[in-house]
Amino acid sequence: MTPAGAGCEVVTTRSGARAMRDRETGELMHPVVGPRVEAEKLYVDASRLGARLARGAPEPLVLLDVGLGAGSNAIAAWKLSERMPAPARRLEIVSFDHTTSALALAVSAAHAPEFGFDGDALVAARALLSAGRYETPRTTWRLEPGELPSTLARVPEDSSDVVFWDPFSPRANPALWTTATFAVLRRACRQGATVHTYSAATATRSALLLAGFAVGAGDATGTGKQTTQAATDVHALARPLEGRWLERLARSSAPFPPDAPADALARVTALPQFSVR
Ligand SMILES: C[S@@+](CC[C@H](N)C(=O)[O-])C[C@H]1O[C@@H](n2cnc3c(N)ncnc32)[C@H](O)[C@@H]1O
Repeated sequence: MTPAGAGCEVVTTRSGARAMRDRETGELMHPVVGPRVEAEKLYVDASRLGARLARGAPEPLVLLDVGLGAGSNAIAAWKLSERMPAPARRLEIVSFDHTTSALALAVSAAHAPEFGFDGDALVAARALLSAGRYETPRTTWRLEPGELPSTLARVPEDSSDVVFWDPFSPRANPALWTTATFAVLRRACRQGATVHTYSAATATRSALLLAGFAVGAGDATGTGKQTTQAATDVHALARPLEGRWLERLARSSAPFPPDAPADALARVTALPQFSVR
């Protein structure tokens, strides 16, 4: 794949955290509170990954890490899984990206500690880069290289439990926030799956709804910014969107993704999660 750091650089954010910046899009990965805190709060804690692994099960819990980037979300999940006691469920992390350049820069000697890569985690990430896969008794981490959403379409139907949806923003990555792409994702999710993303845009939420997910507000970030959680089952959501959100949708200047059908408002309004319970 691409050489270490090609197209990206490590910068210091206004909060003082170190973060990876993509030169082409100008976007920062984990821009607000920095990669380590944001990966924990927005993705690992929000998905209750520890509790879900602790429940145990014969087959692994499958986590789709969409947008490997500097590997902050994936390594936070990997470290949690490695800390779990033996009866816990195994974790299988599948990381999607068309470049490993940001991860290669993040694990370089100059930056590894600030991106959370130390000890066994550094060994795991370097093995992922060289071999595309790293396996321990508790965790499998593998890379699915290539262009999204085609790579996502190769995930077996009904096979995935948790999704960290962290591509660049809809401005830089428009194809990854459409109804069609979320429908590909929905197909890969099995009953009980949850999806976690930093975007709380109305069009993101309506695209997820139109693709067949139940949708709710996610945990707010440290700075109070809203996020989104989606699920195959509305009961998995702490704060499902309700009638008040539909009112906002009807008034929004950007309510839907570009590929929404003409009757999108009627379709969303008729979804079971909005009927009075
Ligand atoms: C915001 S960064 C991901 C940050 C990452 N989750 C982390 O924890 O460091 C978005 C990533 O999505 C990848 N990406 C963007 N468009 C893509 C596409 N069409 N196919 C595959 N990967 C893509 C970029 O290369 C980038 O690494």
